[in-house]
Amino acid sequence: MKEFHDTSACPPASLPKDPRDIPAMLRTLVEAERCAVRGYTHICNLTAGKDHRTYDLSLAILNEEIEHESWFSEFLGEGPSGHFMRRGETSPFVSKFLR
Ligand SMILES: [Fe+2]
Repeated sequence: MKEFHDTSACPPASLPKDPRDIPAMLRTLVEAERCAVRGYTHICNLTAGKDHRTYDLSLAILNEEIEHESWFSEFLGEGPSGHFMRRGETSPFVSKFLR
């Protein structure tokens, strides 16, 4: 699993020494989501107009990562997340790939 992770664009998340330091934990999590947003944005930019299926899947995952980032960002007081828009058990972004 570590070898698989090491191929990702994002560094491993380093958790704070004090696991009760919730703001530090949230900053770690929000940065991990922001790295994922940058990664999937990059894939979208590489595939737009060239590889439609990869672009479509990457865009769906990008929307997921933006939503995750907004959850943690909201806990840090950076603004409302918009997670109230989520309805049902399956993501509106990736559900078409899960049939
Ligand atoms: Fe995520």
